[in-house]
Amino acid sequence: MTPKSTVHMVVCFLQLCIVKGQIICERQIIAEWRVEPKHVLIEWTLRKNICTDFYSECWNVNKNATREDKNLSVPQICPVQLQLGDTLFISSEPSFQSYGMNLVNVSKEEFINCPKIGFLQEQQIFVCQRRGLHQVDSTWLGVGTHYFAELHKRGPYLCNMGLRLNVTVKQQFCQETPNAPLCSKHGRCLSRVWEKQYSCHCFSQYSGKFCQKFNVCSTKPCHNNASCTEKLEGIRNSYECTCPPEFSGKNCTEIVGQCQPHTCFNGNCSNVTPNTFLCECDKGFTGPFCEEPGDPCASQPCLNRGVCQYNQSGYICDCPAGFLGQDCEVDINECSSRPCQNRGTCIDLPNDVACSCLPLFTGKFCERILNPCELLPCLNNATCVSEQQNYKCRCMPGFTGKNCEEVIDYCKLLSINCLNEGLCLNIIGGFTVRYCCELL
Ligand SMILES: *[C@@H]1O[C@H](CO)[C@@H](O)[C@H](O)[C@H]1NC(C)=O
Ligand SMILES: *[C@@H]1O[C@H](CO)[C@@H](O)[C@H](O)[C@H]1NC(C)=O
Ligand SMILES: *[C@@H]1O[C@H](CO)[C@@H](O)[C@H](O)[C@H]1NC(C)=O
Ligand SMILES: *[C@@H]1O[C@H](CO)[C@@H](O)[C@H](O)[C@H]1NC(C)=O
Ligand SMILES: *[C@@H]1O[C@H](CO)[C@@H](O)[C@H](O)[C@H]1NC(C)=O
Ligand SMILES: *[C@@H]1O[C@H](CO)[C@@H](O)[C@H](O)[C@H]1NC(C)=O
Ligand SMILES: *[C@@H]1O[C@H](CO)[C@@H](O)[C@H](O)[C@H]1NC(C)=O
Ligand SMILES: *[C@@H]1O[C@H](CO)[C@@H](O)[C@H](O)[C@H]1NC(C)=O
Ligand SMILES: *[C@@H]1O[C@H](CO)[C@@H](O)[C@H](O)[C@H]1NC(C)=O
Repeated sequence: MTPKSTVHMVVCFLQLCIVKGQIICERQIIAEWRVEPKHVLIEWTLRKNICTDFYSECWNVNKNATREDKNLSVPQICPVQLQLGDTLFISSEPSFQSYGMNLVNVSKEEFINCPKIGFLQEQQIFVCQRRGLHQVDSTWLGVGTHYFAELHKRGPYLCNMGLRLNVTVKQQFCQETPNAPLCSKHGRCLSRVWEKQYSCHCFSQYSGKFCQKFNVCSTKPCHNNASCTEKLEGIRNSYECTCPPEFSGKNCTEIVGQCQPHTCFNGNCSNVTPNTFLCECDKGFTGPFCEEPGDPCASQPCLNRGVCQYNQSGYICDCPAGFLGQDCEVDINECSSRPCQNRGTCIDLPNDVACSCLPLFTGKFCERILNPCELLPCLNNATCVSEQQNYKCRCMPGFTGKNCEEVIDYCKLLSINCLNEGLCLNIIGGFTVRYCCELL
């Protein structure tokens, strides 16, 4: 097949795609930093994952959520966001076998308008027109946004149709020192798609760039309507309460004055200093003068997520399904209805059951016979196809064998072609195969 006929074929694919309707890129608006780097595989194809409308399709964001109000319409492969350290693989689809991938690193302007014919050697991402699966060298994946586009000697046809990719690489600023836990374990290290980096989003009660600061005042240490001010004292931060005139003490719990008979309504009075006293309340009472009936729900008596409600004679618990008793302490045994089929073993859970099935059965109630593919027999990311009681594995490029367990030694197979450079390596445990450079 000549390169020109490949282009025609590709044009047909593209029209089919558009007729089918728009593609919305699957993405999370907010991503959390992964501790382990990931391998990301992008299929260099016009047949899927091509989006056009910048906001709704490519980014899946509400136009109202962003300030930019430009009408961007650039057909492209769904943009990717990587963490610094992730590896990026690009695999070409079979219809490119005679054409080869020809990726170049371009500027934002060239990404939007597609590069002109002719490019510099330094812009080429892969040394020669490539087929199959290849790893993008990390030199192209520094922090920031990178634009890759398809450019063949004959012109930017395929780029115009959508063979271009926006790759954004982000780093995290969530650690005070290189070995410190992310966000001091008091927050999450997050990034929204339109943000340039990952940063800490602290749990309540914590603040600071790395969530390293505990907000003492959030624990409400100041009583009786006193105001709380945070103070930095050495490393630990402390607080200061500004008491209303009738109260005193570190936490404004002490009352200004001296014990008099019946000062405390439902409790005992005790002097703290010559000028201040405290009321020690009887059970069921609260307030500075023990004047208020206490909240019986304050001790959280309802178990198993029961909801506590105040009752004149105390409290009542509104129990969730599956629980009974004054404090929702009785778990109803749902296994008594014998829900597990095919001699599965029943395990009682809160308002639920789990069935432990005998081999060859599956489903919540062991009601289904297992499909052989569900045992995940195919290795190395192969696709499993079930055929009644049997299965077949469709291997990823580079693998073979019944379960795709064998690595194809391309170097050996292709040694005849390695006349020029003789460069042929199996790298990453045989996962990536660098083909010999052939003259096209
Ligand atoms: C965007 O904002 C406009 C007005 O500011 C509003 O009429 C429209 O419904 C909003 N669109 C969405 C998808 O929220
Ligand atoms: C944005 O594009 C749509 C569809 O192409 C068009 O209907 C609309 O008028 C454009 N809006 C602006 C502000 O250019
Ligand atoms: C990729 O292209 C851009 C824009 O021309 C350039 O600024 C950048 O340095 C290039 N990247 C590399 C790794 O050469
Ligand atoms: C590329 O993606 C980044 C976000 O990751 C975005 O800010 C930028 O606008 C995109 N560029 C283009 C030209 O679509
Ligand atoms: C003030 O409250 C804190 C807890 O919020 C407590 O540890 C401390 O003992 C209290 N101090 C006084 C003088 O009551
Ligand atoms: C605190 O303030 C509220 C309203 O401002 C008031 O109803 C309440 O009695 C005050 N409590 C104390 C202990 O002074
Ligand atoms: C109040 O004092 C009486 C008599 O000394 C004692 O029995 C009771 O436990 C005290 N109550 C409280 C809440 O301390
Ligand atoms: C709680 O109040 C309801 C009426 O609202 C009453 O019927 C019930 O007996 C009370 N529960 C207890 C435990 O006293
Ligand atoms: C299989 O795919 C996962 C995720 O897509 C990747 O992390 C893993 O490295 C792949 N494994 C092989 C052997 O290709």
